[in-house]
Amino acid sequence: MTVLVTGGAGFLGHPLVRRLAGLGERVVSFDRLTRGSLPPSVTEVVGDITDGARLEHVLRTYGVTEVVHAAAVVGVTASVAGLPTAVHVNVDGAVALFEAVCRVGGVRRVVDLSSEETYGHFAGDPIGEDDPALPVSPYGITKYAVERLGAYYADQHGLPYAAVRLCWVYGPGFPRRRLPHPWLQDAAAGRASRLAQGGDQRIDFTYVDDAIDGILLVAQAERLGHRAYNVATGHAVDMRELAAEITKLRPDWRVDLGDGPIEMAPGVAAARKGALDITRARALGYTPRVPLSEGLARILADLEARHPLTQGSNP
Ligand SMILES: NC(=O)c1ccc[n+]([C@@H]2O[C@H](COP(=O)([O-])OP(=O)(O)OC[C@H]3O[C@@H](n4cnc5c(N)ncnc54)[C@H](O)[C@@H]3O)[C@@H](O)[C@H]2O)c1
Repeated sequence: MTVLVTGGAGFLGHPLVRRLAGLGERVVSFDRLTRGSLPPSVTEVVGDITDGARLEHVLRTYGVTEVVHAAAVVGVTASVAGLPTAVHVNVDGAVALFEAVCRVGGVRRVVDLSSEETYGHFAGDPIGEDDPALPVSPYGITKYAVERLGAYYADQHGLPYAAVRLCWVYGPGFPRRRLPHPWLQDAAAGRASRLAQGGDQRIDFTYVDDAIDGILLVAQAERLGHRAYNVATGHAVDMRELAAEITKLRPDWRVDLGDGPIEMAPGVAAARKGALDITRARALGYTPRVPLSEGLARILADLEARHPLTQGSNP
């Protein structure tokens, strides 16, 4: 099989490309950036996800049989800061990909990395894939639009589409300022943290290796009974519980934490969230393996290995 990973230079795409290469698959990474440190069996293609002709060329040239679509403007914060760009890249980019796949043929699955943001304020906790999806952020609206367009292309043109709804995936090298990372960076540097509001926010944090396990199961399953799969842990914590987990690992770390939901952008509160029901993914063989305490410890170890604290440098 030859897997095309769009967004292959990103936080999720890069380790996914590496994992696939390690499994002996031929991989094409398509991104507007290059990342390097990839095995020779991986081809890196630089391109824009909205460039349908280039996508078509890549699909034909490499005989792509599976696609994992991870190229996007990611996160509520980025989508609020640049709404037209988020709509263009996320929606037009997905349509360019769907059109190219339908034109070229030969692809047996397209796995679209979607988000818990499609649910908006969670109507249930845990939330199931068939619960109401009423996204409230521009990011969630683009992700849900792509899911609906994926379903349209599947019904009308036979696109082999499936969505994986991920939730706050975390791990070493996470590229944005979103919890738990700022707190772990502070803890690793011996600094205290402060968050004016957010103590009541509940999140189903998913370690990156688990997310990749789930994505691969959906990509490689012989048959799929559904178009959407939650891939998370099935368990949410609020930010006070998250802080308590970090304190267990670094007892000297302190956080001044206000109540309420997290603010994703100035004046933009996060949607009410909770756990994701992962029954469907479990039926494919998915089991989240990295508990929050272990995932946090791995990131702290990574941060401290890269920036060792000199003794006595704590403020
Ligand atoms: N990380 C999470 O917590 C999370 C949660 C839910 C869903 N997702 C989804 O997973 C996917 C990957 O997220 P990530 O965390 O790896 O984000 P990321 O920002 O690290 O990766 C996205 C990649 O897309 C590329 N990209 C952006 N615009 C492009 C364009 N116009 N053309 C080509 N490439 C472009 C970027 O260069 C980047 O490498 C996204 O679809 C995101 O919505 C992520």
